Parts: sequence; structure tokens; C-alpha cells
Amino acid sequence: MKKILVIHGPNLNLLGIREPAVYGKVTLNSIDKELKKAAKKRKASLTIKQSNHEGQIVDLIGDARGRFSGILINPAAYTHTSVAIRDAIAGCGIPAVEVHLSNIYTREEFRKKSLVSPVVKGTVAGFGVNSYILGLEALLDLLE
Ligand code: DQA
Repeated sequence: MKKILVIHGPNLNLLGIREPAVYGKVTLNSIDKELKKAAKKRKASLTIKQSNHEGQIVDLIGDARGRFSGILINPAAYTHTSVAIRDAIAGCGIPAVEVHLSNIYTREEFRKKSLVSPVVKGTVAGFGVNSYILGLEALLDLLE
């Protein structure tokens, strides 16, 4: 059974009330439910974490070695700022897929740059909760 670590970055705990015009009304809980359904169909197991703290996310990625076969990550605002998360992904030796609810390339200029994209297998952005599902499916395909 493939074991996947799902990491939700900062402020994603606020989904549902946070900028609904951008992120819709979907809650993190409902995203997690959809992910678990999709994982069950593929006979994969998920461990899901949310953190608002950069160092904690770095620790999660670093500790994933030997415990998980893939990482699905929405680094949220850290996408655009965190060399530490980028380096953790590059160094952990586990394939990762980056996802975003919104299309970061159609928003503010500062969101157009992802420090994480060059070190992941691929990125899915702009499809709301489907970004996560598509990202998970692609990650599992890759691991098979
Ligand atoms: C986000 C996009 C980021 O720019 C933003 O900081 C987020 C969410 C997304 O899922 O669309 O917090 O990662």
C-alpha cells in the first residue's frame, strides 16, 4: 500500500471563511474527506497535516524519509517565499506534487513565482478541490 503524506500550509485551516471569492466556500475538512475517498479507491493510505509554521513543515518533510512513498503539498504562501521548504523537498528523496486551489499565475505578480515548482514532479493549480484530487492521482500513478 502506498503511503502518502499530505501537507496543507499556512492559513488553509481558514478555508471556508477565508477570501471566498478566491478560494470558494470549500473547507479543509471537506478537502480531506474528498482526498480520503480518492485514496481509498486507489488503496493508498493518507496522513494529513496542516501547519502555519515553516519550520514545522520542514520537519514534516525531513521526517517523511523511510515512512512515506510520496508527498502531496500545498505550501500556500510559503510557495513564494520558502527556500527552506524548497530545500527540504529537494533533499528528502521522496517524490512530491505541488497543488494550489487557485491559479497562482493569474493572480498578483508575487504569486507567479513558486520556489517549490522546480523541485517537485509536477504542479496542479486552479481547480479548487480538484487540484488536490488530480495531484493525488498523478502522484499515485507516478509511484506505480
Ligand atoms: C494557495 C495560493 C497561495 O498563493 C496562497 O498564499 C495560499 C493558497 C492556493 O491554494 O491557491 O494560501 O496555495
